[in-house]
Amino acid sequence: MTTNSSTLGTALVTGASAGIGATYARQLAARGHDLLLVARDGARLQALATELSGAFGITASVLTADLAHAEDTAKVAARINSDQTIALLVNNAGIGPKEPLLKADIDYLDRMVAVNVAAVNRLAVAAAQAFTARGKGTIVNIASAVAIVPEAFNGTYSATKAFVLALTQGLATELKDGPVRIQAVLPGFTRTEIFDRVGASFDAIDPERVMDVEDLVAAALAGLDQGELVTIPSLADPELFSRIGSLRAGLSPHLSLRHPASRYKAAA
Ligand SMILES: NC(=O)c1ccc[n+]([C@@H]2O[C@H](COP(=O)([O-])OP(=O)(O)OC[C@H]3O[C@@H](n4cnc5c(N)ncnc54)[C@H](OP(=O)(O)O)[C@@H]3O)[C@@H](O)[C@H]2O)c1
Repeated sequence: MTTNSSTLGTALVTGASAGIGATYARQLAARGHDLLLVARDGARLQALATELSGAFGITASVLTADLAHAEDTAKVAARINSDQTIALLVNNAGIGPKEPLLKADIDYLDRMVAVNVAAVNRLAVAAAQAFTARGKGTIVNIASAVAIVPEAFNGTYSATKAFVLALTQGLATELKDGPVRIQAVLPGFTRTEIFDRVGASFDAIDPERVMDVEDLVAAALAGLDQGELVTIPSLADPELFSRIGSLRAGLSPHLSLRHPASRYKAAA
């Protein structure tokens, strides 16, 4: 059976002007999705929309929004609600850290939380509600490998990504018997503009630890096709991640009880 854009629906990709988001746009267009491209840089988005509609015969539109601003995020959420063709959300826009927290500009960290957490939350929940009402849809949330190793990187950035992972896992419980799919993607270092934007460079990192963005997105889409809830593109042995789930399940009955553990009882 062949698919066409009307059966696949429109993919709304945030942060589509560069990096992972632009690469999702390309690979989804190649699959036949129509596109709604979201970011701040309207000229870059329009150039990509024109290129991809010409190359793949799809319809590509642009919606400029600064997802650090709640009113712009609300505008994108409203579009998810009102546009019945939207069937895939790639919740990707995000910004990285500029410096260690002890030297950080806290206003910048607030912007990071607005883009990486508040906007991702609003768009994911809006999509979960709209897609459930429509009877179909898929949500892809771009987290990071540092969601599970926060000690290894900037604390605020890692915490934003742990939020995205937890949001996805929690929402998956509510969505599990319904028509909506959800996936979290946990990239490791991926060659994009993310470091350039904060005055850093991938040159300082062992190239064996840095994935090309086309490979990253192709692997993430393969994980989606395979029905994964959590996709870690570089992880060869998925059992290593599953073990965390088993350990957490073992802890669960001990985490909320009437009495404190005996080691916390005050000495007589
Ligand atoms: N690259 C990595 O090593 C890596 C690893 C793990 C996770 N990630 C995650 O992957 C996602 C994509 O990052 P990337 O590496 O592709 O970075 P990138 O090349 O810097 O692209 C970031 C995208 O987000 C958009 N964006 C940034 N701030 C925005 C805002 N306030 N409002 C709307 N859009 C905004 C940018 O567009 P405009 O500037 O046009 O707004 C751009 O399209 C992020 O969530 C990032 O945390 C990246």
